Amino acid sequence: MMSSSHFFTDREYKTVFFETFGCQMNKLDAELSLGLLQEDGYRIVDKVEDAYVVLFNTCSVRQHAEDKVYSHLGALKTLKKKHPEVIIGVLGCMAQKDGKAIFKRMPHVDLVCGTRMFSRLPELILTIRNHGSHVLAVDEDQVVSVKRVAAYRPNAYQAFVTVMRGCDNFCSYCIVPYVRGREISRTISDIKEEVQSLVSNGCKEITLLGQNINSYGKGLPGNVNLGDLLSALEDVDALDRVRFVTSHPADMSRDIIRTISRLKKVCEHIHMPAQSGSDRVLGLMRRGYTSGYYRELISFAREHIPHLAVASDFIVGFPGETEEDFQETVQMMEDIRFQNCFIFKYSPRTGTKAAELIDDVADEVKRERNLKLLELQKRISLEENKKVLDKKVQVLVEGGSKSDPGKLSGRTRQNHIVIFRGTPDLAGKLVNITIQEVTDLTLFGKLAKG
Ligand code: 5AD
Ligand code: SF4
Repeated sequence: MMSSSHFFTDREYKTVFFETFGCQMNKLDAELSLGLLQEDGYRIVDKVEDAYVVLFNTCSVRQHAEDKVYSHLGALKTLKKKHPEVIIGVLGCMAQKDGKAIFKRMPHVDLVCGTRMFSRLPELILTIRNHGSHVLAVDEDQVVSVKRVAAYRPNAYQAFVTVMRGCDNFCSYCIVPYVRGREISRTISDIKEEVQSLVSNGCKEITLLGQNINSYGKGLPGNVNLGDLLSALEDVDALDRVRFVTSHPADMSRDIIRTISRLKKVCEHIHMPAQSGSDRVLGLMRRGYTSGYYRELISFAREHIPHLAVASDFIVGFPGETEEDFQETVQMMEDIRFQNCFIFKYSPRTGTKAAELIDDVADEVKRERNLKLLELQKRISLEENKKVLDKKVQVLVEGGSKSDPGKLSGRTRQNHIVIFRGTPDLAGKLVNITIQEVTDLTLFGKLAKG
């Protein structure tokens, strides 16, 4: 018998609150899991207090992300005491990494579900309901993707599609290969089928997701690569745009760049983390390239793909990073002029190679370097965006603007966010916008004539 509650009716037992931390892959896993749960009769609610099932999809890439989840979990202790029938689950990277240690630290958690077990969520919740708490599911299933069953989509015109999972690179600081497992790719036909189904439901732009997307195809029969996949999507009618993330400089071949330059649907935007501008630090990070190699690769890509926008990630305060090393990163940012960059303070992850090095850069210094790079990038982004002033850009309209109700929001092929005035019927359409104002993050404009 289920315990009775003053705020749950029988029907309301199938209510789920879902919060996601971390990367785009996590957001997509959440979307697909919610689709599965919806198909199983669940209703998605916005408040923890309204939910019978509370799920956190977690991230392990930095300590800060884990601390946040533990603090959220801690805050649920009282609720669980009052309503023991509520099911609390930890999903994803932290679940994979910490396993049953989570039950030890947070005994009120009922479910720990790893990165390759999402497709079993409805069944796992049922097991808890019928047989009790502390269910652990962290096997490394070979299933590369959760089936997209229901139409739970945050945006009707834009969708993410997993094309490969896992990473074999083992950069010395990174936990991903340990929590996401070895690289597995989906077949081109499988991916194309999913894309076609999304497009027949109105989707206009697809972003292909993989932790290390340039090595897409490894292990698949027939020697296929990312270029083949992108080429195969070129002939999906009614699909306007294709994007792909995240690129690794050592695996981004010149052949792939040539292929991208030929394809009309692939957008002029790559996210290819450099991580550092110092060869010494790149060596310690085991990235497999030098700063010179990275710069040449970007020059080659810019030569072949006009109007290419490049985004990057950088880590500051890696063990042993000197002021000189840091200045090389500053110089790289000045020289390459990225469209935008994500900057992170190094955070040691137990089990990785870098965790064996002494984390010797003081937090204060990490913070200062972080701030300097953020400020530098802000200046560069603003200067670069100013170059678009008075120009016409192509925008895929996503819908109403969140920050400015009454206006519409969309993205350029270079992935700039654009805000402009227009009627809601433009959602899902490609329009030309003349840019009138810019900040470092956003472009503002008006519908172009003609
Ligand atoms: N500490 C700080 N940043 C990290 N990243 C990955 N691992 C760590 C770590 N241990 C950053 C990298 C990566 C991004 C997703 O997160 O820059 O590209
Ligand atoms: Fe982590 Fe490196 Fe793999 Fe990216 S390429 S997920 S940074 S190990």
